[in-house]
Amino acid sequence: MEHCSDRQETVVKVLVLGGDGFCGWPCAVNLAENGHDVVVVDNLSRRKIDLELGVESLTPIASIGDRLEVWEQTGGRAMRFVAMDIAHDYDQLLALLRSEQPGAVVHFAEQRAAPYSMKSSRNKRYTVDNNVNGTHNLLCAIVESGLDIHIVHLGTMGVYGYGSHRGATIPKGYLTVEVPQPDGTRFRENILHPTDPGSVYHMTKTLDQLLFFYYNKNDSIRITDLHQGIVWGTNTDLTDRDPRLSNRFDYDGDYGTVLNRFLMQAAIGYPLSVHGTGGQTRAFIHIRDSVKCVQLAIENPPTATDKVKIFNQMTESHRVKDLAEKVAAVTGAEINFLPNPRKEAIENDLIVDNRCLIDLGLKPTTLDDGLLSEVVDVARRFADRCDRRRIPCVSAWTQAQAKAVAAG
Ligand SMILES: NC(=O)c1ccc[n+]([C@@H]2O[C@H](COP(=O)([O-])OP(=O)(O)OC[C@H]3O[C@@H](n4cnc5c(N)ncnc54)[C@H](O)[C@@H]3O)[C@@H](O)[C@H]2O)c1
Repeated sequence: MEHCSDRQETVVKVLVLGGDGFCGWPCAVNLAENGHDVVVVDNLSRRKIDLELGVESLTPIASIGDRLEVWEQTGGRAMRFVAMDIAHDYDQLLALLRSEQPGAVVHFAEQRAAPYSMKSSRNKRYTVDNNVNGTHNLLCAIVESGLDIHIVHLGTMGVYGYGSHRGATIPKGYLTVEVPQPDGTRFRENILHPTDPGSVYHMTKTLDQLLFFYYNKNDSIRITDLHQGIVWGTNTDLTDRDPRLSNRFDYDGDYGTVLNRFLMQAAIGYPLSVHGTGGQTRAFIHIRDSVKCVQLAIENPPTATDKVKIFNQMTESHRVKDLAEKVAAVTGAEINFLPNPRKEAIENDLIVDNRCLIDLGLKPTTLDDGLLSEVVDVARRFADRCDRRRIPCVSAWTQAQAKAVAAG
């Protein structure tokens, strides 16, 4: 029998770090709706990056102050907001933990776009500084506070890498290996699955994993690391309650993720951009399921003696080319094959063990549920907000890739 759940928590005070972002905002309102006492913590860096890139979410998004006010006006359980940079405001973070004494901290507060992380040395350094310091500050502050706080972190399926796994199923974070001994015998060890990051952003997530491993071993910090697939969709039932609660929808070449970009491109009559052959296979999850998984993780925490719990938070895998064909079939869009700005395998397999979340009660939302058209409808509604100049992916992984992209 799989060891997925140790005990059920009821109501928890939760700090949602990065709770103004794409995954964080719908997660925060869902936790509040389910009775948890939620404090949103964010430095609003994502909104500042929009200004830097000269692009806006396709869906208009209200300020965090308005979001919280409307949430309460529409019957939601009140949430508070604390403006804080967790990567640099260590003393404030420690003071916040001490004053709030949360039972759990959900950690979304990282720079999450691989293309943005690869744009320049400045972007690489910013991503490493922000993500690794933020995670380490949180772990250090929990130890210094002496409080028993469960961390639920949003990691990525990208930590495993997208090379060939030769048909092997990617396990839940750990791999059992046999190590040869000098006398010819072998011993078995359960190790963290080897990492194979494909960008500086992904590399920060592999570093997070090691930080979690160490602080769990040394200080018995309770941690659930959710290795999340690419999130698609935009709103949940709760963020749909009022237009001012709307979630963001990134479509640009840096922050837009593959399926949402295809759906938006189809909505505005722009050919679907497939980079390379489209043989890349990736894991996906709908935003509604992402929100549910975080709730399940909080309500099924590890015990003090458990090692870091790792769940593969994805519901299905698809080849990029197949996704483009599916969207084209639904919408009549054309497909455009473009040079790949990323240095990555031309194609890969991806078979993933996600049983734990299903065993805890997740009912996967799949691509065939009519949701593709729903996202296209959202994109059509806001099509006039789309700046077509921001659609191409121009952030290249290497000089060679940059030349190929420039040559078109
Ligand atoms: N969106 C996806 O498809 C996806 C897939 C896998 C994993 N994830 C992970 O989920 C998490 C959230 O992703 P997202 O799509 O919501 O990203 P996002 O950029 O929309 O949200 C991140 C939020 O964190 C905040 N933030 C960043 N650095 C901070 C800091 N130092 N202090 C305080 N706040 C900070 C930002 O302002 C933003 O509101 C990330 O860690 C990401 O790696 C996302």
